[in-house]
Amino acid sequence: NDLSKGTYPHYMIKEIDEQPAVIRKIVQNYQNDNGELEIDAAILEEMTASDRIYIVACGTSYNAGWVGKQIIENLTNIPTEVHISSEFGYNMPLLTEKPFFIFLSQSGETADSRQVLVKINALGHPSLTLTNAPGSTLSREAKYTLLLHAGPEIAVASTKAYTAQIAVLAILGELAGRRKGFALDLDIAHELGIAATAIESIIDEKEVFEQLSVTHLSTSRNAFYIGRSIDYYVVMEAALKLKEVSYVQTEGFAAGELKHGTIALIEEGTPVISIITDPTTAGHTRGNAQEVISRGAHSMIISLDGLDQPEDAYVLPKVHHLLTPLVSVVPTQLIAYYTSLHRGNDVDKPRNLAKSVTVE
Ligand code: G6P
Repeated sequence: NDLSKGTYPHYMIKEIDEQPAVIRKIVQNYQNDNGELEIDAAILEEMTASDRIYIVACGTSYNAGWVGKQIIENLTNIPTEVHISSEFGYNMPLLTEKPFFIFLSQSGETADSRQVLVKINALGHPSLTLTNAPGSTLSREAKYTLLLHAGPEIAVASTKAYTAQIAVLAILGELAGRRKGFALDLDIAHELGIAATAIESIIDEKEVFEQLSVTHLSTSRNAFYIGRSIDYYVVMEAALKLKEVSYVQTEGFAAGELKHGTIALIEEGTPVISIITDPTTAGHTRGNAQEVISRGAHSMIISLDGLDQPEDAYVLPKVHHLLTPLVSVVPTQLIAYYTSLHRGNDVDKPRNLAKSVTVE
């Protein structure tokens, strides 16, 4: 059943493996009887009537929010901001005339996010919660809910909820864009299917990431992930994942920003993983990889098919440019899992962390 580990040694690896099935299930669940994607028209109406979208979340959900911003702005042309719940709660940004709030919360119970929702409800602004937990507090208290359909996520470190949030945001983005009258050259259901198959092929090769983790990360004190544009959003999540389960101090950096300070931390053998899926920034990120190599770093490049070079550590299958995070995050989840495993950590229950944090 959903709650047992089955033949898996840990929930985290089970949940990583489930991602292709989750993405397919999301597409099915958001399809109507005619096989067309459909979301409550009231949600689309209020969202597209808005002059600015505010995404509010914590932790991994916050990182998914940045990918959501990219997708929503691209497909709907509505300016979108991403906020950390705790900061938003205490220092609310100036709101536009017609704000629309999107809360991202796997559990639907995060207190930091809830206190923002209470405030914006009091102001009378419309809100939508994307959650994995029907009937959860954030679902009940928001005006609208969209479910992630990811199934129970038991490992403290979130994996399938991140990809599920991106998939649901992509569906929402496409339908909102069409509602605004944009003739989008995009079939998101089809593209999500391609992404699901691509994730499967990465998971089939998980030994590559186990090897890489054992050789280059399991005895490291620190590590870096770098990327630009959409890859920058993914490296923030990649770094969080590695930190929380392996306890390797990891920074996720905008590749271009490295030279403005953090490059001082590069020593002989420091692992630096670059993610390269965006053709417009690929050359620059490769340049940054060269800069760290010349300072002694151990560089590993994860690139998208077509942007790859012979020296790359792994080549990701091609997917739609707005959905590359769905595939590029998977190697980083596997790296976090195997590094934690080979360091002898409690993979599913990292020290000091809780699955859902119900205090501010
Ligand atoms: C906790 C978990 C994180 C999670 C965050 C937000 O800190 O350890 O993995 O990303 O809460 O949780 P939510 O349920 O709101 O997505």
